Amino acid sequence: MRFTTFSKQHVRSSNSSVAFAREREVVPGGSMRNATWFTPHPPYAAKGLGCWVEDIDGRRFLDCANNFFSLSHGHAFSPVVEAIRAAAGNGTAFGLPTEKEIELAQLITGRSPSCEQIRFCTSGTEAVMFAVKGARALTGRGALAKFEGAYHGSYDWVEVSLAPDPDGWDDEQGNPASIGGAEGVPRHVLRDTIVLPWNEPDRCAAILAKEGPRLAGLIIDPVPSRAGMIPVTREMIDVLHAAREKYGFLIISDEVISFRLSYAGAHPLFGLRPDLITLGKIIGGGMPIGAVAGSARAMAVFDHTQSKPLVALGGTFSANPLAMAAGLAAMTALDEPAIARLNQLGSDLRAAINLSFIERRIPAQVTGSGSLFRLHLTSKPITNYRSCRCLLPKTLQAVHASALDYGVLLTPNCSGAVSTPMDSASIDHLVAAVTQSIADAFARQAWEK
Ligand SMILES: Cc1ncc(COP(=O)(O)O)c(C=O)c1O
Repeated sequence: MRFTTFSKQHVRSSNSSVAFAREREVVPGGSMRNATWFTPHPPYAAKGLGCWVEDIDGRRFLDCANNFFSLSHGHAFSPVVEAIRAAAGNGTAFGLPTEKEIELAQLITGRSPSCEQIRFCTSGTEAVMFAVKGARALTGRGALAKFEGAYHGSYDWVEVSLAPDPDGWDDEQGNPASIGGAEGVPRHVLRDTIVLPWNEPDRCAAILAKEGPRLAGLIIDPVPSRAGMIPVTREMIDVLHAAREKYGFLIISDEVISFRLSYAGAHPLFGLRPDLITLGKIIGGGMPIGAVAGSARAMAVFDHTQSKPLVALGGTFSANPLAMAAGLAAMTALDEPAIARLNQLGSDLRAAINLSFIERRIPAQVTGSGSLFRLHLTSKPITNYRSCRCLLPKTLQAVHASALDYGVLLTPNCSGAVSTPMDSASIDHLVAAVTQSIADAFARQAWEK
């Protein structure tokens, strides 16, 4: 499947419109996932190959969304397809362990010294939930600290202050307030979730000095996608390490997305020494997966053979053999040279897009790290959730739709990832589509005031 011309292809498709009308009848809002929906409706996928996805109207898009950063090799990667086919032929799920789960566990623990042991589950949300429960069981405390705007899945505690409005986002002390991620969140969840400002070490140190003694854990994504995709600073990490030393809580590094940044994950790149690490997305090769990993000491909390099992980690589809087989195939192919190449492509594309904004005097920028990128419609520095919170939602929507018309699929908040089937030609296409989409919006004076 190839995309050869750089011209607009309109996506308000009849087949997708019909599909959307059908889905609306039986699914609230006509979408199974908030994240995949955008107005008026998304194109419905028919198939994908490599870095291209084709919709049910036959239009093709360079896929930078990659099912929200979970497909490091794009679509229908043949080693993954073969592995799933072989595994499925032997049965899709058992009430017994399989050897494949040992192999994937060995592969991941062999890559990252901080991951001495691992347990698989079926989503990143589950992984985060189990890690938080583990931290509580190990410390005998209930409270959790997280960073404002950072996404860690849909567990009540970590949804706190995911997307607060300026109205009321400060507490009486001027620190980030704890705002529920959904209506009806119990008050005790808000009381027991401490919200920290991103990359503000002094303020974080002051908050942790007060709240540290009641914390079970602190969860951090070293490059939080929703909070701007700005990497954590060394000063910030020093503060977290010092507070852990003093108060005895656990640090959970949430690398559900950012594990892809190096062979051993994100934390070594920033000098972070976590107790537990949560994983998902790419380690399943496109199949549903999550995992909690960490030091053998911390992971003992999940050891059911102890006389007192502290936290029961498992579910019907945990370590599902198809996901194990797909993950093994995908992660084996994602070796050090593959990651270095992805990171280089990512850095090239960020540099090219930023240069083009400067040359065209467009007040926009791209942030990110390694193979990850995110667009922002401002030239003001992006430092945290508050500075990246989109003040121009309609323009961002228009840019997303226009990129789609130019044949590039981004996530609805205009972020994306490079995958291994991409090459310099795909990056050129991506850069051209993105800069043209933003230039169009700018030229049409669609920039909201
Ligand atoms: C950092 C992070 N943690 C956790 C999750 C939740 O993972 P899942 O969607 O597999 O439940 C996500 C999902 O995007 C994520 O980005």
